[in-house]
Amino acid sequence: MLSPEIIASQIPHVLKGTNFTNLGNYYEGKVRDNYTQGDKRILVTTDRLSAFDSIIALIPFKGQVLNAMTKFWFEKTKDICPNYIMEYPDPNVIVGKECKPIMVEMIVRGYITGSTTTSAWYNYEKGVRNFCGNELPDGMIKNQRLPMPIITPTTKAAHGEHDKNITPAEIVSTGLLSQEDWNKLSHYALALYMRGVEIAAANGVILVDTKYEFGKTADGEIVVIDEIHTPDSSRYWIAETYADRMKEGKEPDNINKEFLRLWLSNQGYMGEGEMPAIPEEIIVETTQKYIQAFELITGQEFKGEEGDPLPRITKNLESYSI
Ligand SMILES: Nc1ncnc2c1ncn2[C@@H]1O[C@H](COP(=O)(O)OP(=O)(O)O)[C@@H](O)[C@H]1O
Ligand SMILES: [Mg+2]
Repeated sequence: MLSPEIIASQIPHVLKGTNFTNLGNYYEGKVRDNYTQGDKRILVTTDRLSAFDSIIALIPFKGQVLNAMTKFWFEKTKDICPNYIMEYPDPNVIVGKECKPIMVEMIVRGYITGSTTTSAWYNYEKGVRNFCGNELPDGMIKNQRLPMPIITPTTKAAHGEHDKNITPAEIVSTGLLSQEDWNKLSHYALALYMRGVEIAAANGVILVDTKYEFGKTADGEIVVIDEIHTPDSSRYWIAETYADRMKEGKEPDNINKEFLRLWLSNQGYMGEGEMPAIPEEIIVETTQKYIQAFELITGQEFKGEEGDPLPRITKNLESYSI
């Protein structure tokens, strides 16, 4: 684990964003700067932290941690599902095949949990027993393991709108996907999840649920895109304490990315009005939470590249200049 001193000394070098003019068409995502050129997409994972629908802070090493985690998982799953990755030219950067996104989000759940209106537990508690085409047994309790993992797809909503639950039958009948493509996607999604569960379990972690995005390459091949199994797309619990906490009626120990959002909530900030200043030690602690998550989940030590990232990234992306 990087020392608090090293993390603090990286604060002046946080990666807020990039504005390369030689890398293609620019799209600024919440966290990643995207450049597209023909059939290639360059994704620069910045240190931006988004919460309350805006960027609330810059967290040293966050981009590198998330990029390293994405790399870890794509490497560990490429034998069971093709992905869009072409290269990792820099600790903050992925270069991949530009794809036509498939407008269905593939959510896989091994446990019944969640609190949002699309979550399994929210619906189950309301009496739903057929959830996105999956029959659920009576008598389940919150956070219980499902008899087997289920796929609960949603539509991919336009910006500012909410994703909606959908059944596989509806996906096919509305022409979102052919039956053949649905079969392929569901096969890939389950295989990815099972691999994730297995590797996480070996490190004492439960991969509770997760979301996959798929796309079609220029050749028409279906591949998994974006990122997989990072705390942004996935829920993780600590395995060791799960059973005891369930018995005691407590929530599982969550490896969460919500540390800073919770800190702000505790200061009375809910996203409205002026945000309280975030002390340096809270920024450092936020980085530590990300690194801890990486090290716990992957079982590997995080090695960060210190110093100003922009000149390094510029150099590492020279060969992509157009
Ligand atoms: N291979 C790909 N082809 C096309 N789009 C992709 C690919 N991989 C990721 N994306 C898209 O690129 C964006 C990544 O940047 P991100 O910061 O996550 O943006 P957002 O705020 O839209 O989530 C996402 O919109 C994601 O869907
Ligand atoms: Mg995203």
